[in-house]
Amino acid sequence: MQQDFEYFNPTHVIFGRQALDRLPEQLSYYGESVLLAYGGGSIHRTGLYDRVQDALRRSGKRVTDFPGIMPNPTYEKVLEGGRLARACGADLILAVGGGSVIDCAKAVALAAVEDGDLWTRFFLEKRGPERMPLPIGAVLTMVGTGSEMDGDAVVTNEATRRKTSCWDYSLYPKFAICDPQLTYTVPEYQMVSGSFDILSHIMEIYFSPDDEDNLSDDLAEAIMRSVIRSTAAALRDPRDYTARSNLMWASSLALSGLLSPSKREDWEVHQIQHQLGAYYDCAHGMGLAAVSPAYYRTILPYAVPRFKRFAVNVWGVDPTGRSDEEVALAGIDALARYIRESRMTPTLRALGIPDESRLAEIADTVTLRRGGYHQLTRAEVLAILRASF
Ligand code: NZQ
Ligand code: ZN
Repeated sequence: MQQDFEYFNPTHVIFGRQALDRLPEQLSYYGESVLLAYGGGSIHRTGLYDRVQDALRRSGKRVTDFPGIMPNPTYEKVLEGGRLARACGADLILAVGGGSVIDCAKAVALAAVEDGDLWTRFFLEKRGPERMPLPIGAVLTMVGTGSEMDGDAVVTNEATRRKTSCWDYSLYPKFAICDPQLTYTVPEYQMVSGSFDILSHIMEIYFSPDDEDNLSDDLAEAIMRSVIRSTAAALRDPRDYTARSNLMWASSLALSGLLSPSKREDWEVHQIQHQLGAYYDCAHGMGLAAVSPAYYRTILPYAVPRFKRFAVNVWGVDPTGRSDEEVALAGIDALARYIRESRMTPTLRALGIPDESRLAEIADTVTLRRGGYHQLTRAEVLAILRASF
């Protein structure tokens, strides 16, 4: 049964090989001043910067560059962007990049119109904006986060060592240009990081009640199988358009809200990873991969039938002659094997964390949510981090 729900996704997605040609049409809906937000330089190396500038020029826009958005964008960078957006009177923020650039652009859209302590109001107290944030548009260059089609902006406050998000409907990109070919140049490490992020977003929703027959679970399983298959294909051939296009759409759908009806949702793996990111600035998806097997082994006793279903329907585990617990565990073993075989980081050590000295501190700062099937204690978070080391 589908429980009562509300679904709204306002992002206009333009997807495909010629998607970038449609940028001028989208730009025409906004005023002449555009803040062009991008990362550390990949768009210069790939030639995308020139193509976007050309579209902006042909559309008669006055462009102010906002370069240097780092992976895991910082609150300082958001404030810098907010000042720049005000100074140039931006009518639109155009984010060209992956999740970090798009997230930063969303937070800048807020910072450009709101005054005072944004961190406390929007990120810690999760209040909604009082003024309409600037509109943002996205040209997606790396898949994983789903930021191109959701209202989340994840930001790291370096001063307080806290990574967290603000969310609002007004922060959804107005449009997202999604050309899978733009992801061909993503380094393999970032590509598999993004792939695991997609899988993790789906698992965070899937491993939670309701467990009774509902379409969300069926859709989730189909997308997970596609991500697993497509990641292997993209590893074999980075220019495999079929694989790249499936991954790109899977990434957008995973956090679009489509899979959420009837689901309580979990998000505890993300809470743990956000604090790993706040302390060690690691690739988001790789942090998720390093802790997921230990996390799921910890909650397995609270949801054996769900993990059995995952094993059989997602990983093709044959349940014949095995107990439910054995089948359930085989599913998590298959997930761990997939992490290793896809050249993801299977441990925190592989992620570059030198020793276990700060794990207790990290465990103490993780937000403990209600959880899908089980609410973790701090001792369990620490045990998961140690088991993942
Ligand atoms: O900075 P540049 O030079 O552009 O290089 C980037 C960056 O170094 C590179 N890259 C991106 N596209 C490329 C490319 N290199 C070559 N060719 C291309 N086409 O990839 C590196 C990583 O980019 P980044 O944007 O940091 O990766 P990702 O998309 O994984 O974003 C991660 C951030 O998103 C947040 C994460 O916490 C993290 O801060 N998340 C956002 C979410 C959301 N908005 O809903 C949800 C997620 O759970 C996540 O928390
Ligand atoms: Zn994520």
